[in-house]
Amino acid sequence: MLRTVQQSLCCHGNRCLSNFAPAQRIIGHEKNLWVEYSALAIKHKAVNLGQGFPDFTPPEFLKEAWSDAVNVPSAHWYTRGQGYPRLVNALSEMYSPELGRQIDPMTEIMTSVGAYESLYAALTAFTDPGDEVILIEPHFDSYSVVVEVCGGKPVYVPLKPDGDPTNANNWVLDKAEFEGAFTSKTKLLMVNTPHNPIGKLFSAEEMEFIARTCEKHNVIIVSDEVYERCVFPGHVHHRIANAPGGWERTVTVGSAGKSFSMTGYKLGWAIGPEELISKLQTVHQTAVYSAPTILQEVIARCVEREIELKGQEQSYHSQLSKIMEKGCSEIISACGDAGLSVVEPFGGYFILVDTSPLGLEFDTSQVAYDIQCAQWLTEHMKLAGIPLSLFFGKNKHLSEKYLRLCFAKSEQTLKIGGDIIRDIVAK
Ligand SMILES: Cc1ncc(COP(=O)(O)O)c(C=O)c1O
Repeated sequence: MLRTVQQSLCCHGNRCLSNFAPAQRIIGHEKNLWVEYSALAIKHKAVNLGQGFPDFTPPEFLKEAWSDAVNVPSAHWYTRGQGYPRLVNALSEMYSPELGRQIDPMTEIMTSVGAYESLYAALTAFTDPGDEVILIEPHFDSYSVVVEVCGGKPVYVPLKPDGDPTNANNWVLDKAEFEGAFTSKTKLLMVNTPHNPIGKLFSAEEMEFIARTCEKHNVIIVSDEVYERCVFPGHVHHRIANAPGGWERTVTVGSAGKSFSMTGYKLGWAIGPEELISKLQTVHQTAVYSAPTILQEVIARCVEREIELKGQEQSYHSQLSKIMEKGCSEIISACGDAGLSVVEPFGGYFILVDTSPLGLEFDTSQVAYDIQCAQWLTEHMKLAGIPLSLFFGKNKHLSEKYLRLCFAKSEQTLKIGGDIIRDIVAK
């Protein structure tokens, strides 16, 4: 009897071991950059200017939206999978003038669990094994992982400084190199503006060139515009969907977390022609079915408020662009005092700092300089940032000695971070 039990346990154990092996497509993607670097910051009790999350307290209008939403009975129920009606209507009203066309709230918008899910749905909906997806690098880390999980091939084209590298907008595509990346297998191109991590705003001319090239090769564009409301005052966010030939091939992705500085909300949306959005919807309804209803009720109220206050001082988006510019100037000033040069951004959450004047020396035969430098600064200076090379798939040499810092932080966090930066050289 005992023997039989042992045998069956053993057999069960063996069966588990082989059955529990991961599917091939996820092997090699176990590590996650944000998990790793957040843990490092916590371990060394460092001020976290690494991960891009504002540590602000919620503004009053947001708290009011929550307390009003709680009293809407249907906000507690399952909702329409493709998007809560009140929210998609509000998004349609907000984006229609920005995209120069009437956006159909029911067919041309999908809400998602963070922008992350919209990006995942878009890449998954269109990438077959063997398809090529062009990624402009440096790029947000999830793009290449999702392409690879789908069996696609990321094709990397870098942004390189043309002229003064301390101006984010001087990081540009080499036109011939970009056009040369397209083949008969190219299915999709990812664009990101305002750009993470460079802080570049693509110009209308750049967008037109990219859209025309995609039109020529009949390639889909996924435009990650999560930082669209974080463009510094006096600068303009150009949407590739507005470039000639752009709309019919573009999925534009936005984020409530970034637009209202509460990244924990994880609510996003995708906007584009029905022909494209309907394919994302197939992935979305299979994966999560719908984003949380009450969150969509809250954000619908916030978007409606923005529409009402557009252009006025009380508008959160007007305030946000100033808050971001101010945070950025705090870091620039601290870096200036420490003799460190930066790549000056025009939008987004991030700034690249050139760490070479620190004169730190590392053996780079195994691990890249910027990775060791970021770890050293976290451990010894209690300042956590993200090494730029982690945003590159191929052209890592361009990252050299850059560290990405997040300036979307409270005054207090920026003060502590700024003081550490000023202290670094002295120490
Ligand atoms: C470029 C970019 N895209 C997408 C996301 C994810 O946005 P969300 O938090 O809405 O999922 C981020 C978050 O950091 C990002 O930086």
